[in-house]
Formats: sequence, C-alpha cells, structure tokens
Amino acid sequence: MDFNLSDEQRMIQEMAKNFAVKEVAPKAAEIDKNHRFPSELVAKMGELGLMGIMVDPASGGAGMDTVCYVLALEEISAACASTGVIMSVNNSLVCDPVERNSTPEQKEKFLKPLASGAKLGCFGLTEPNAGSDVIGQRTRAVRDGNEWVLNGTKNFITNGREADIAVVFAMTDPEKKHKGMSTFIVEKGTPGYSIGKIEDKLGICGSSTTELVFEDCRIPAENILGKENDGFRIAMQTLDGGRIGIASQALGIARAALEASKKHARERFQFGKPLADIQAIQWMIADMATKLDCARLLTLRAAFEKDQKGRFSRSSAMAKLAAAEAAMWIATKAIQVHGGYGYTKEYPVERNFRDAKITEIYEGTNEVQRLVIAAAELKG
Ligand code: CAA
Repeated sequence: MDFNLSDEQRMIQEMAKNFAVKEVAPKAAEIDKNHRFPSELVAKMGELGLMGIMVDPASGGAGMDTVCYVLALEEISAACASTGVIMSVNNSLVCDPVERNSTPEQKEKFLKPLASGAKLGCFGLTEPNAGSDVIGQRTRAVRDGNEWVLNGTKNFITNGREADIAVVFAMTDPEKKHKGMSTFIVEKGTPGYSIGKIEDKLGICGSSTTELVFEDCRIPAENILGKENDGFRIAMQTLDGGRIGIASQALGIARAALEASKKHARERFQFGKPLADIQAIQWMIADMATKLDCARLLTLRAAFEKDQKGRFSRSSAMAKLAAAEAAMWIATKAIQVHGGYGYTKEYPVERNFRDAKITEIYEGTNEVQRLVIAAAELKG
C-alpha cells in the first residue's frame, strides 16, 4: 500500500490550495454575511479546470482522477464551504452523469460548457414530498411527439438560481416505481421552467438553494439523458459520486475548524499559560485530528474505488457519513476551544459550525448513508 500522492495529485492540491488561500479565503466571511454567490470565484475555478476536474479533456474537462478531485475540493472548502458546494455539485452531480450517459451530441452541447466552467449546472431530484424517498416524487414527464412535457416542482436545489443547465428527474411510468423514472436536461430560459422559492439558510449562505418549477415545460425529445426509465439508477450512481464530493467539503470545513482551534490554543493565555498547555484542550485537539484523519482516509479510499470503475456505494456512504459527523463534531469542539469568542462572528469557527450541519443532510442524510452501508453489509 502506498500513501504517497502522485505528482499530478500533489500538483492539483498545491494549485487549489494557492487559489483557496489567496483568493477564496479573504472573501469567505463577506460571501457568508451578504449571502453572495461568488461568481468571480466560480469563473476563476472554471479557468483553473476545477469545474470539470474528472471530465475527459475531449469534452472540455481536466481529465484527472477522483483523488485529485477530493484533494482540490478539500482545499476550496477549507477556505469557503459555499464555494466548495458550488464546485462539488457541478463536478459530481452534473458533469458526471452527463458524461456517463450522454450521446456525442449532448457531450458537445452540454458537457463541454459545463466542464470548462462556461456554464453552471444543478441537479433536480428532491421534491417537497420526496427527499430520502426518491421514488415518492411527483414530477411527471410525458412524451408528446418530438418533445417531453415536464410538470412538477423540485426543491432544495443547490445552484438553482444561477444554473444554466439542470439535470432533472421525472417519473415517466409511475406504476413501475424504480423502473419508471427518467433523466432530462433542461436549459435555463426554456418556457415553463422557472425558479421558485429561494431558501434563507443556516449555512453555506453563498450558494443558492431554490425550487425549480416546471409548468408544461416542453423540451426536445433528444434532451433525455440515458435510457428512458433508467433514471433511478442514474440518480443513485450519481449520488455515490456526489457523496465523495460532500465528504471532501466536510473535510475542508473540519480542517479549517481544527486549524483555527490550534492557532487560538497557542495564542490565548489563561491561568498564566497558553490554552495549548492545558490537557483538557490538548485532548480535544487530539480527538479532532484523529476524527479528521479517519474521515480523510475513508474519503480517499472511496475516491480510489471510484476510479477502479466498479460499484463504490458502500465506501462513498462510509466516507460521507464519517466526514459529515467529523465536521459537525470538530466544528462544535472548535467553538468550545474558543470559548465565548467562538460564539461570535469575529472568529471563523461559528461559520464552520453553521456550514458543517448541511453535510449531515444533503446528498443523503446520515441515516440514508447508514441504510446504504447496512444494505451492503447484510446482503447475501
Ligand atoms: N448504483 C446503481 N444502482 C443502484 C444503486 C446505485 N448506487 N442504488 C440502488 N440501485 C438499484 C438497485 O440495484 C435496485 O435495482 P433492482 O431493482 O434492479 O434490483 C434499485 O436501484 C432499487 O434499489 P433500492 O431497493 O436499494 O432502492 P430504495 O428505494 O430502497 O432506495 C435509498 C434506497 C438509499 C433510500 C435511496 O432512495 C437514497 O439514496 N435516498 C436518498 C436520496 C438523496 O441522497 N437525496 C439527496 C438529493 S441531492 C441534493 O441533496 C440536492 C443538492 O443540490 C445538493
């Protein structure tokens, strides 16, 4: 077993870190405070190849492996978790399913601009009455001649407000449940497609989370992605990859909280010595570092397994579960290490705390990850 990174992996980690430290971190508090979508950072991430890291260069991507993706996303998220999720959704939830399931024409028309960062994508699966229960969704797509007609409402859609291209799931044969859902590509500006409610959230305030509303929305027949009625499999396979992205985002948040805690522990004096010399604080730092490393090892293993091309549902669910729980635990302890200061907006750990919570919820809650892991463990 070799724990060393390849030259390419080290290079992208270094490049992402440079960008994150110099250009993302100085803006993170302002982005959070003003709930501002960081369009200039997203454009720069496109130029750096970070919006389609794993996509084949022939389709506009950077052609790197999933380990590179994890390393880069941890760096961006350590600086700003909002910028991290914007990048994660475009890479994992949009470029990935489009690349795997598209026709050559769809690759040219949709994947190239998405992977180069010229266009932004979102992933429309969740509905007001269908979150964990994907198959309970009500959005319908009905074929009418050379078009599909979509009706329904999606919610909690990251990048919903800014996305140029939406990957949308709809029932095409509801009686058949898992075998009756299909995937579609819908472009911004299509009549009948609009943005509904924009959520006001606890954390990741720089990314938008919106409803997508489809009212007799007609799209060309060729905008179906993959085979008709294969949408549930596409959604699940996509989320397996997405969970690695969110695990990486959680690693970034957790690392930022740990680093801030170590700095504070060295600088703050109580009882005539730095907090770092007090055993109660040392134990917290030790547990934070151990949980972070456990989560990172699981995330890198999931990335490695994804690159082996087999099914990696169990390892990606473990990575996301461990990283999300670590991020929430570490961010909570980070506030404790900071004491009263940690509860104020002057220190970044309160933002880390608010940003960490969502990693336990989106792209499958902790409970859904446990379902996936238990199903794999108990099978056969
Ligand atoms: N890859 C390929 N196929 C898969 C699969 C996968 N990962 N997971 C399941 N399947 C297949 C199964 O093999 C099975 O096929 P057969 O019928 O041929 O045997 C079929 O799909 C049904 O599988 P299950 O019986 O396991 O499905 P289920 O209905 O019990 O669902 C679940 C399981 C784990 C609860 C699943 O519904 C799930 O993951 N729910 C959570 C959804 C989620 O993560 N939502 C987040 C939305 S995205 C988001 O957060 C918004 C954002 O913008 C960030």
